[in-house]
Amino acid sequence: MADYVKIADDEKGFDLSMFCVPKHYEDDLERVYIPHGLIMDRTERLARNIVNDFGYEEPIVALCVLKGGYRFFGDLLNYISALNRNTDRSFQMSVDFIRLKSYQNDQATGKIQVIGGDNLENLRGKNVMIVEDIIDTGKTMLKLLDLVKDYNPKKVRVVSLLVKRTPHSVGYRPDYIGFEVPDKFVVGYALDYNEFFRDLNHVCVVNEKGKEKYAIPKS
Ligand code: HPA
Ligand code: MG
Repeated sequence: MADYVKIADDEKGFDLSMFCVPKHYEDDLERVYIPHGLIMDRTERLARNIVNDFGYEEPIVALCVLKGGYRFFGDLLNYISALNRNTDRSFQMSVDFIRLKSYQNDQATGKIQVIGGDNLENLRGKNVMIVEDIIDTGKTMLKLLDLVKDYNPKKVRVVSLLVKRTPHSVGYRPDYIGFEVPDKFVVGYALDYNEFFRDLNHVCVVNEKGKEKYAIPKS
């Protein structure tokens, strides 16, 4: 099973005042859970593991799951590219994007929609690396893997920055994991709550006030 950094259930994180947090979110967050620097350091190591495993013989297609995956995708590919230009071996990478939506407020809607992105024909016969921000129940990823398999890629690997320890999990585990986190709603570093908090550098836990302030009224 993939190695990961475990954030314990009783992890208190860090006081917001110890880090730089945008003024507009100061009242909406409980704690800083994973500081940006730690995310970057862990991502650098994931890049090294991925490069070692994929080998150098063949190109890979990196598929970014939008929107939440965009920052992790960018940083991970930067670290992989650095390895590619600083050794005598390298492999080609191309990028594709897919946009999925499944969450409203802090609940999964149960409906997973593909609402945009590239033509997945690009994946046919290729080595594919899917990059996701968080695996929560795992249902979204299972659906995406199903979709991708229709295009007969050669090899598919999944990298997720976060995996949530939740009783709602269907048991799916990605091939590469940054951090395993407790069953709390986390935001920041492109992870959102109703499209808010993507403009936050650190992974943080939203407080009740934040959930109310940015809630979408139930229709
Ligand atoms: N935060 C943000 N997006 C998510 C989460 C979460 O905890 N779980 C699934 N999508
Ligand atoms: Mg996501």
